[in-house]
Amino acid sequence: MSQQRTLVIAKPDAVRRGLVGEIIGRIERKAGWTLTALELRTLDRATLEQHYAEHVGRDFYAPLLEFMSSGPSVVMVVEGERVIEGVRVLAGATDPLKAGPGSIRGDFGTIVRENLVHASDSEESAEREIKIFFPER
Ligand code: PPS
Repeated sequence: MSQQRTLVIAKPDAVRRGLVGEIIGRIERKAGWTLTALELRTLDRATLEQHYAEHVGRDFYAPLLEFMSSGPSVVMVVEGERVIEGVRVLAGATDPLKAGPGSIRGDFGTIVRENLVHASDSEESAEREIKIFFPER
C-alpha cells in the first residue's frame, strides 16, 4: 500500500468551461481516492510565485502566472493509493495535443497554456504545494 496525498488545481479554463465536475468526477471514480480539501479561489500573484518558483526565468513563466490569475480555480487535496502518479496519468501530457485520448487534457485541451489541470509531480512537491494552498494542513 502506498497512501499519498497530492495537490490538484482545476485551472481557470476548467472553471470557465464548466469542466470542474468532469475533472472531479474522474478523480472521485478512482477506487480508494478521497477529496480531503476543496476550495474555489482566484489565485493571487504572491501565491502563484511561490507555487511556480522553480519555473522563474522560463519563457512560459509570465503567461502562466497571467493565465492562472485570470479567474477562479478549484484547488483541492486528494488522498489515496498511488494518487500522485495517478492524477498525473489522468491529466495527461502537458501539451494537450500530445496527451492521450481518455486523459483530461487529451479529451478537452488544445493549447498548452490552457491545459485545465495541475497535479503535484512528487511527494516532496505535494507537501510543499499543499502547505502553500492549505497551510493549516
Ligand atoms: S518542465 O519543463 O517539465 O519543468 O515543465 P512542465 O512541467 O511541462 O511545465 C511547468 C508548468 O508550466 C506550464 N507550461 C506552460 N504554461 C503556459 N504556456 C506554456 N507554453 C507552458 N508550458 C508549460 C505547465 O502547464 C506546468 O504548469 P502546471 O500548473 O504544473 O500544469
